Amino acid sequence: LSDEAQQVLQAYDWLTKLYHHLLRYAKDGKEGYQYFKDRGISDDTADLFKLGYAPATANFTASFLEKKGFPPQPLAKAGLLSVRDDGSAADRFGGRIVFPIRNHLGKTVGFAGRTITGDGPKYLNSSESELFRKNKILYNFDLAKKQIRSTGEVVLFEGYMDVISAYQAGIKNVVATMGTSLTESQARLLNRYADTVIICYDGDDAGIEASYKAANILRGTGCQVRVANLTGGLDPDNFIREYGGETFIEKIIKASDTYISFYMRFLKKEL
Ligand code: UTP
Ligand code: MN
Ligand code: MN
Ligand code: MN
Ligand code: MN
Repeated sequence: LSDEAQQVLQAYDWLTKLYHHLLRYAKDGKEGYQYFKDRGISDDTADLFKLGYAPATANFTASFLEKKGFPPQPLAKAGLLSVRDDGSAADRFGGRIVFPIRNHLGKTVGFAGRTITGDGPKYLNSSESELFRKNKILYNFDLAKKQIRSTGEVVLFEGYMDVISAYQAGIKNVVATMGTSLTESQARLLNRYADTVIICYDGDDAGIEASYKAANILRGTGCQVRVANLTGGLDPDNFIREYGGETFIEKIIKASDTYISFYMRFLKKEL
């Protein structure tokens, strides 16, 4: 790793702890804490995923990092801070809940910040860098890989909250891509640990379309593929919250389609 990447890694480590601490214990993090509570996330789950909140206070993160002695340029390049017209650094995730994205060693290599007010894009992500390659990383792979190995199965989701909800409900062999289509390199990684990949994308048109693409990439690397059949625009997180983890396993995971049945369903939709 370059010196810059080492510094960014260190900054991520500090900020992961800081944002998580604020979410759990500080007045400054209350809005974030309440948001996760309202979405059914327990304290234990927040601790496990080190969910956090970046305070909206102007320059909160930028000045924290400055005080710790981090030069701003590498952090701005990593998308941790943003740069103003005058060249000064400003917070990028301020006022957002933060999902640390961990690499296979469990180290934070990126953040996703979700709005809780509806301002701006729903999720902001760290920028691509030598540390953070969205097309290589699968969210939660580090925590999931033991269960993936032992069951031979992995459930593939679209989003962070799908993973966290499922994990909280006791379904631990779960990972997600991060707003991009599944790549061959991610498929190869899954194929090394699992025999069967159960694609469980959102129950909307975009989800079915993306399932079809992911299924073909996975089959190309030698994975067995099943595809869950969520309907009514629900995503896995919505479903688990509404019906619980056991129903999710019975009605969605165990009842998932073979590739062939899915393909029939896909063709019918296209026709
Ligand atoms: P979704 O729109 O399905 O969001 O995007 P979600 O995961 O269900 O999130 P909640 O439940 O509304 O909080 C799926 C994934 O696509 C990426 C994120 O990784 C998200 O989890 N995404 C989505 C972005 O990167 N940016 C966006 O603005 C939206
Ligand atoms: Mn979606
Ligand atoms: Mn969406
Ligand atoms: Mn979704
Ligand atoms: Mn969702």
